[in-house]
Amino acid sequence: MRPPRSTRLGFQPPAIGEEEIAAVTETLRSGWLTTGPRTALLEERMASYLDAEHVLAVASGTAALHLALLAVGVQPGDEVITSPITWPATANVIEHCGATPIFCDVRDTDLNIDPALIPALVNERTRAILPVHLAGQPADLDPISALGLPVVEDAAHAAESVYRGRKIGAISDASCFSLYATKNIAAGEGGLVATNRDDVAEAIRNMRLTRRGDGSHYDQVTAGFKANLSDVLAAIALVQLDRIDAHALIRQRQFDLYDVGLADLDGITPLVRDPRDVHALHLYVVRIDAARAGADRDAYQRALADELIGTSIHFLPVHKLTWFRDRYPAQPPLAVAEHAGREVLSLPLSPAHSDDDILDAIDAVSRLHERFTA
Ligand SMILES: Cc1ncc(COP(=O)(O)O)c(C=O)c1O
Repeated sequence: MRPPRSTRLGFQPPAIGEEEIAAVTETLRSGWLTTGPRTALLEERMASYLDAEHVLAVASGTAALHLALLAVGVQPGDEVITSPITWPATANVIEHCGATPIFCDVRDTDLNIDPALIPALVNERTRAILPVHLAGQPADLDPISALGLPVVEDAAHAAESVYRGRKIGAISDASCFSLYATKNIAAGEGGLVATNRDDVAEAIRNMRLTRRGDGSHYDQVTAGFKANLSDVLAAIALVQLDRIDAHALIRQRQFDLYDVGLADLDGITPLVRDPRDVHALHLYVVRIDAARAGADRDAYQRALADELIGTSIHFLPVHKLTWFRDRYPAQPPLAVAEHAGREVLSLPLSPAHSDDDILDAIDAVSRLHERFTA
């Protein structure tokens, strides 16, 4: 076994190279800093990559979700059904529309929303369904689409995902991607909405920037936001898009190393990946069963930090966070999500990491497993 590390291994550092730096410099020299030609090119190239009619660039994945919900008609008093195993932004944007998030429990296999449980939650106030593609594994969209309600996907983890032969981005009313610093296309900040609906694209175009000028006058057709993307960030995203396949290959190798390296550790199990789909390999999430692994997730996370291995949690169930708990005290228990929320741990994964880095992480987990189960 390899000795413990002497330098900290980051959980998910971005893979930024000289090309990204040159692209930023070039943009700064161009004199055009805000939404402009680079953003337009990013939208065009992402539309082609995602097989989508339209891609609209916005300021964040959160803004993408917010504007997409508004664009499909979510209004105050409505309900939107979503997954509790997600970043809180997914539920916050429902609140920002004046609507209520209705949390639906997840499947024990991949921790994506359980389509079998959705129909019982649908009523006359239900305006949309918001599935999340956790870690890059597509949610089961066919039974969700079959319910006939607008579907807005949280595709923050799913830039490369394919569901049963169709790209995520090409399927639902809207798919919302994030360009946040840790994401598969990392620009630092930014978001994208992909849609095949002309009306959704037009609504988002009108909302992401309040002012749309066409000469000396300006006008507005809706009370918009300031949710546009800067060309400086679009320039980074364009280079990251050039590297998307190369980066995916590196993460695939890291997944393979983890799959093999952790296979014999009783009680430490990766989330299930469906072989019918393309997984975006955004996060390597394991579940730690305290009874078999000798210690719980929190003990492993603390001990890994002591071993200089950075980890993260995706995710704590949103309905259990203070604000949602206080706001909806009568929330019914969501047994699978709540159990999983105590077990999930995401291990280091990044095209910026070497194979040796990942082997260090595997050895650290193995060493702790040996200690905790002794
Ligand atoms: C599942 C999920 N949804 C939404 C978001 C929000 O994206 P952003 O940070 O770009 O606003 C994130 C991550 O940041 C996420 O992981």
